[in-house]
Order: sequence, then structure tokens, then C-alpha cells
Amino acid sequence: MTELWSAERIEDAARLLCAGELVAFPTETVYGLGGDATNDLAVARIFEAKGRPRFNPLITHVPDLAAARGLALFDARAERIAARFWPGPLSLVLPRAPASPVSLLASAGLDTLALRMPAHPLALALLSATGRPLAAPSANRSGRLSPTSAGDVIDELGGRIAAVLDGGRSAVGIESTVLDLSGAEPRVLRPGGVAAEALEEVLGHIATGAAASDAPRSPGLLASHYAPERPLRLEAREARPGEALLALGPGPAPEGFRELRWLSRSGDLTEAAANLFAALRALDRPDLAGIAVMPIPERGLGVAINDRLRRAAAPRPS
Ligand code: TXA
Ligand code: MG
Repeated sequence: MTELWSAERIEDAARLLCAGELVAFPTETVYGLGGDATNDLAVARIFEAKGRPRFNPLITHVPDLAAARGLALFDARAERIAARFWPGPLSLVLPRAPASPVSLLASAGLDTLALRMPAHPLALALLSATGRPLAAPSANRSGRLSPTSAGDVIDELGGRIAAVLDGGRSAVGIESTVLDLSGAEPRVLRPGGVAAEALEEVLGHIATGAAASDAPRSPGLLASHYAPERPLRLEAREARPGEALLALGPGPAPEGFRELRWLSRSGDLTEAAANLFAALRALDRPDLAGIAVMPIPERGLGVAINDRLRRAAAPRPS
């Protein structure tokens, strides 16, 4: 069989990824749209290239279990299940490690991370060559079918990404199973390439779907899923006492705020998306009365930013 890829192609792709560019790569489930998971701007570019209307958290891909342990906390259950099913079509949702370098945007501001070690030699070679975890949703435009060949990816995203690695047709063809091990009870959040029955052989009973008590771990089911503790005020045009401002250029920011942080001075919405979660966290401090946000245009990634801000500002479940 002729090889579709070479060490040189992989090195080139790894260089692009380290520079914050996007590279689509094959996995055994579907082709992924990869970006450096530790780079906020690269992660924002993933949402933009897909035209994703809001920030669903992304799965972060790793070359081996040792790399995964540096990103999230593995308990005994997670160790057992990874030993049995990795590499393979299973993503584990685990508590984020305190020093985890993964972008907050990749996990949509959650305290958990979805991790996966894919079972495809080219994906693993790319992850090793890059030396960084890669965030990778399916490499299709939002709302369309997932790609299972390099040609599919070019149909979907050609012109929007730096490179596509061709690893032949994806063997599994549906996305990975997403198993949440961040709570007391194991729960399948998304059915996929590993059947729940196979997981139950290792873990015993597994719940499916989202439980009411799990709402915070099931983004999108709840109006408010990532919310700062301080009140958030949208469409702010003037200061109120004690507030900090999240500002967006290119115009000047209104004056009189206790503190000011730019989402993007130039008004670049991709840059603003990349900075959003980290900025909200940084301003969520007891010495501030609240966080005000300048109006964000409802176009491009601005739609996703506004969606996240509205969720964060929505009435909170008590
Ligand atoms: O097979 C796959 O998993 C493919 C290939 C490319 O690896 N990737 C993929 O990624 O489907 P993505 O980012 O589209 O899948 C994200 C899924 C969503 O259902 C999302 O809600 C869930 O994983 N997810 C990610 N992080 C999560 C978290 N911290 N908590 C709960 N669910 C999470
Ligand atoms: Mg998808």
C-alpha cells in the first residue's frame, strides 16, 4: 500500500499548528479541524472557520495518557477506562488540572475538559510532532455532515484552513462517545464510537443524557452555564460605580470605569473571542462591583460572543 503521508508533511503541519494556524487531520472517527488547544487565538479561529454559532466546548486531543494526565485529573475510574479504550473513539470529561495549559475558550469556560487519544497513526504522529494538545471538532461547517475523507474536508473548509492531512477514509465514521467522569456517577453525554455496554463492563451502571443535577456540566441545556460571580451588564455605554469594563475597539472606550480590559483594541472579533473567557475570569473579583461589556456587533464570531455573554448574564439557577 502506498503511504498517503510523509514525515516531511507531518513536520510542516506541526509547524503551522505551533504558529496558531488550523490543520485538518484524520482520526478513526471523523476528520478533525485541529488547532493548538493552548492558544486562545487558534481556538477562536476554529469556531470562526466552522461558523459555529456558539461556543460549544471542544475535545482536546493528546498523543498518550501521560500528556492527558498533565491537562486533567485522572481518578481510578478514568485510569481504568483509558487503559481499556485508548487509543480509541472515547472522549473523557474530567476536572481540569489546576495548571492545565488548555485555553478556557476550548472548554467554553467550564472547569472540566474533554480529552481523547485518537486511534489513527497519522493523528498520533501529528500530535507527537506538534508537542501540544490539539483542540479538534469535526472538520465541517456548522450544521453540516462530519467529513470522513480529506476530500470531504476540502469541500467543507477548503480556503479557510492552512492544510489538510490525508489519512484515507475514517474507519469509525461517527464521533467519539463522550463519557463524563467529572461527577460521582459516570454519564454518557454523547453516544458515539464506543457503546455504553462496553463502558459498563468496566464501570458498572452508566447513566445517559443529562441529569438535572448535571446541568452545569451539560452546556447548552441551561441558559446560564458559565457565569461570573459578579453581575454582568451588557451593551454598556457609560460607567456605573465600581464596575470594570470589557472594551471592544476600534473606537475609544467610555471613561470612568475602575478597570479596563480590551477584548480587541482593533475590534477584531476573532481576537475578541479568543480573549473572552480569560477576560471574564480575570475581572470576576470581589473588589469590583460588576463587569460591564461594550456592545458587540452581531456578526461573525460576534454572534457566538453575544450568545455566551447572554448566557453568562442570564438569571442564575439558585
Ligand atoms: O470523534 C470525535 O470526537 C471528533 C474527532 C475529530 O476527534 N471530535 C469531535 O469534537 O466531535 P467536538 O469538539 O465537535 O465534540 C465536542 C463534544 C460536544 O458534544 C461537547 O458538548 C462535548 O464534546 N464536550 C466537550 N467538552 C466538554 C466538557 N468539558 N463537558 C461536557 N461536554 C463536553
Ligand atoms: Mg461535529
